[in-house]
Amino acid sequence: AVTTVEGIGSTKSRLHPVQERISKSHGSQCGFCTPGIVMSMYTLLRNQPDPTVEEIENAFQGNLCRCTGYRPILQGFRTFARVNTVSPNCSLFQQVTLSPSLFNPEEFMPLDPTQEPIFPPELLVDVPQKQLRFEGERVTWIQASTLTELLDLKAQCPEAKLVVGNTEIGIEMKFKNKLFPMIVCPAWIPELNAVEHGPEGISFGASCPLSSVEKILHEAVDKLPAYKTEVFKGVLEQLRWFAGIQVKSVASLGGNIITASPISDLNPVFMASGAKLTIVSAGESYIMPKSGQRGEYFSAFKQASRREDDIAKVTCGMRVLFQPGTAQVKELALCYGGMADRTISALKTTQKQTANSWNEGLLQAVCAGLAEELHLSPDAPGGMVDFRRTLTLSFFFKFYLTVLQKLGKGNVENVSVGVGAKYRLSEVPEGQSEEDMVGRPLPHLASAMQASGEAVYCDDIPRYENELSLRLVTSTKAHAKITSIDISEAQTVPGFVCFISAEDVPGSNKTGILNDETVFAKDEVTCVGHIIGAVVTDTPEHAQRAAQGVKITYEELPAIITIKVTEKGPHRKGGIGKGDLTKGFSEADNVVSGEVHIGGQEHFYLETHCTIAVPKGEQGEMELFVSTQNTMKTQSFVANMLGVPANRILVRVKRIGGGFGGKETRSTVVSTAVALAAYKTGRPVRCMLDRDEDMLITGGRHPFLAKYKVLDVGSYAGDGRDSIMERALLHMDNCYKIPNILGTGRLCKTNLSSNTAFRGFGGPQAMLIAEYWMSEVALTCGLPAEEVSQPGKLEAFTLSRCWDECLASSQYHARRSEIDKFNEENCWKKRGLCIIPTKFGISFGIPFLNQSGALIHVYTDGSVLLTHGGMEMGQGLHTKMIQVASRALKIPISKIYISETSTNTVPNTSPTAASVSTDLNGQAVYEACQTILKRLEPFKKKNPSGTWEEWVKTLKAGSLSLLFETNSGNPFHYFSYGVACSEVEIDCLTGDHKNLRTDIVMDVGSSLNPAIDIGQVEGAFVQGLGLFTLEELHYSPEGSLHTRGPSTYKIPAFGSIPIEFSVSLLRDCPNKKAIYASKAVGEPPLFLAASIFFAIKDAIHAARAKNPDCKMEKLFRLDSPATPEKIRNACVDQFTTLV
Ligand SMILES: Cc1cc2nc3c(=O)[nH]c(=O)nc-3n(C[C@H](O)[C@H](O)[C@H](O)COP(=O)(O)OP(=O)(O)OC[C@H]3O[C@@H](n4cnc5c(N)ncnc54)[C@H](O)[C@@H]3O)c2cc1C
Ligand code: FES
Repeated sequence: AVTTVEGIGSTKSRLHPVQERISKSHGSQCGFCTPGIVMSMYTLLRNQPDPTVEEIENAFQGNLCRCTGYRPILQGFRTFARVNTVSPNCSLFQQVTLSPSLFNPEEFMPLDPTQEPIFPPELLVDVPQKQLRFEGERVTWIQASTLTELLDLKAQCPEAKLVVGNTEIGIEMKFKNKLFPMIVCPAWIPELNAVEHGPEGISFGASCPLSSVEKILHEAVDKLPAYKTEVFKGVLEQLRWFAGIQVKSVASLGGNIITASPISDLNPVFMASGAKLTIVSAGESYIMPKSGQRGEYFSAFKQASRREDDIAKVTCGMRVLFQPGTAQVKELALCYGGMADRTISALKTTQKQTANSWNEGLLQAVCAGLAEELHLSPDAPGGMVDFRRTLTLSFFFKFYLTVLQKLGKGNVENVSVGVGAKYRLSEVPEGQSEEDMVGRPLPHLASAMQASGEAVYCDDIPRYENELSLRLVTSTKAHAKITSIDISEAQTVPGFVCFISAEDVPGSNKTGILNDETVFAKDEVTCVGHIIGAVVTDTPEHAQRAAQGVKITYEELPAIITIKVTEKGPHRKGGIGKGDLTKGFSEADNVVSGEVHIGGQEHFYLETHCTIAVPKGEQGEMELFVSTQNTMKTQSFVANMLGVPANRILVRVKRIGGGFGGKETRSTVVSTAVALAAYKTGRPVRCMLDRDEDMLITGGRHPFLAKYKVLDVGSYAGDGRDSIMERALLHMDNCYKIPNILGTGRLCKTNLSSNTAFRGFGGPQAMLIAEYWMSEVALTCGLPAEEVSQPGKLEAFTLSRCWDECLASSQYHARRSEIDKFNEENCWKKRGLCIIPTKFGISFGIPFLNQSGALIHVYTDGSVLLTHGGMEMGQGLHTKMIQVASRALKIPISKIYISETSTNTVPNTSPTAASVSTDLNGQAVYEACQTILKRLEPFKKKNPSGTWEEWVKTLKAGSLSLLFETNSGNPFHYFSYGVACSEVEIDCLTGDHKNLRTDIVMDVGSSLNPAIDIGQVEGAFVQGLGLFTLEELHYSPEGSLHTRGPSTYKIPAFGSIPIEFSVSLLRDCPNKKAIYASKAVGEPPLFLAASIFFAIKDAIHAARAKNPDCKMEKLFRLDSPATPEKIRNACVDQFTTLV
């Protein structure tokens, strides 16, 4: 039996406490991740109704959310934890009880495990007694019930593939297009699930899931003497950071070994520990992690981009056995993954150490040996050659220190744990009516439905009876002429209907915001992922096969892959600046110049692009359901492509599962193709991109390369559009008043997928550059960074208040001294601190976009249907609009409903973007409400003590319209301000870093909804944290994107957020320029995550200062993102100089 989120509770009957708590604690924004997170928590509670805080945090290792910043989810779910398990370091729990202002845990339904549905006994599978066989179109799946049967099957059909968890083979089939016609599953064979405890260790059958291995080893560690469990702890250390619970529950031990991945985390441990593997063709197959003996020490290390659920860059198992009673080495084993095409043992180095003592001399000999033995060619797969080689030494150094400490001779620096969060927000004014919801932390109005799985996203719309599936066919070359397209193989796939391309377009094949793109590439392709055509079939599976069957030949042309070589490109944005540079330089004591690169970023909204197009059969009419931030462009591009007027095309959006700018214009590349397929076939057509297609085709944030000369700022380069560069130049001074400044921008056109809007729209990149050279000015002048950017030099109104409050609440000065002390006392761990302001301009750069509309229907029962021009994508826009309408009409929010956004209710809307949607739509809603109220005025006067329903009824009787539409609203020009202070700790040996604490003070005016605004601040901050410290796009030299999914592209996970995370909304700062004195909040806080980047830089500075031998310059380059590789390489020391 499979229980889904719909099976545990519903808004129609009763929500499950898990669903209720995520909803009421504001842990669901777009809601697309919510069912998965709910089910992870539910599963934990079914297995452990009384979990510890740690168990709760670990339960989400396989879940991702791109909206919330994770804090509210953890905070809501920690209310399930045993209270006495909260660590004293953790401020979160105390805060919830002291200040329940965002939600009140006392209102939560209690969890009653006795009320859970029991697992249907008839479905309980113990051990299947007979063989099961499933025949598919191309694959036969056999589940063997006994070992003999398995061996017979293998003997009869040697090429049959064994599959247990399918976590490896599944990926090969889906992404590498491998086909295994016969699959044999040994998952249920008793011998292969056996676990035996013996004197030498524990033996596990090959089909044992990793989660069981983990549980059994934990029990053994608790029971056995410490010296016996050294290896078990090594395996557990690797399993702790190994995939998520979902994967570990199915992935098998045998599968990991046999895959023989060069970055397997377990094989180096097994190899180093001397574990025994039994391979049989007519018997059993076992792996046995060995228990230890006295005088034996074992450690395992792994370094990845992200701690949780990430594959290793380098991983290792290390074992030393000493001669009894001495510190003389008897055996040493150092086994590595990530250093060759298989797991390797550094035999040459280790064999030389027999009989040596565990001392400095051995350390140096091993490091020199490893540096020589573990070589990587400069073009080794996986890159990061210096980093990986350095890691092999750093890991050994850590092992050396650990063993030294166990021998009682050394001191290993300690590690802090725990996750906490606080928030402060302004309360509503005293005397505000209970019914007036403006300023109150109302949960996102759809959150309960999102938590119960009832919320409908585009692809949830049931299939139409005659619906077809579309799959895009895209270029595999970065720049080439198309010489032929052969669809003959695709035509043989069952269910094939047609192939569409530029030839089929009835209107214009030209499309795009600047009308310089094509619906389908014709003759020439300009990037890998360029859409050439699409296949249309009966099912998505057939569409995938058919798309693979389309064969395209190319004649390759020269391609430009990086912006670094395109500085002389044709596009140039004029300079922005003021003052006299020559005079400025002549008067300056110091001149600082340099270069910094800021990488791009993938949106990674959880819901990928999706469109359903339904032809209506009359006069070119078509209805499209689209996951888009831009109904107007979707409509006009489809109309243009089909050659029909816009009034025939209806675009509808219920909600979208995250956008962040990625669905502002790029959604049209899918919707236009799907519309053509629907037009050509006359049938409804659907397409939802797979994650890898989405990442390949739709572009992301623009990378920037900056060259600066302070006080002269040189040229920026970006791969993108004028408006991004314009915003970048307008933010190049961040918050500083600089008398002499000039910025020029150069747009670079590359042969990579077109980039697009992404939260901040060029602003965060430019502000990072500004802070970068500000930090260099501080270092050059020998001034503390916070003095260079102190309040006196900050212009604008509330910024100084934000700065002072942040300095005070973060206890900046006291912590600076503590950090200096910590850095003095610790050699291989360093802490860094940074406080940073932001100032973000609010409005669309193109003036006509600063308008919106609202349509209000008042029905005779008094209920109100509100429609406005904005899309709900998790930012709580609909909730805020209902709050605005509720105050304006003076009716409870329960009477107001928003169903969807569509082109036939509010036409010609601006995209939901640029943080202005609340301002623009809020004002339009307000004005529409005023008109309705004006019409009601006479009836209210006649019956002053009447109710809303009575006035509405009499108005109808008076036959006046209850519908109002406005297409106006003021463009607002103001800034949103904020300040953040962050502290990090870096591991100088591995490049790992921990975000210890962040304090944010944000001016959001008079918040319309503090819960939603705090959610936006945290969500934006964590997205910025990804941009500046984690997320890296990798391309092949030929321009093909390597990072096409969550396995290779790492966005922040639950464990990435600051251990202490405190957000305050500045009090008493009404903003006269927007609805109900509020301020825009979507984009402005994102840049504040740069405080983490600069805190890392500060910590690296401390590490470098400790190594005067290495003769390092005070200024050093740190490109964004500050990944473990860059951090490690910047912490120059004796190990980096060895490789
Ligand atoms: C999201 C995700 C995260 C991951 N993270 C990590 C990680 O952090 N570290 C890491 O090392 N790996 C990781 N992996 C890889 C994978 O999970 C492991 O290698 C896993 O143990 C494979 O087991 P499986 O049962 O799923 O293998 P399957 O996919 O079922 O099979 C894999 C291979 O093993 C063979 N095989 C399976 N059972 C037997 C048997 N009894 N006898 C002989 N051959 C057999 C199969 O024929 C096949 O060739 C991750 C995978 C995913 C999808
Ligand atoms: S709420 Fe988690 S991805 Fe949107």
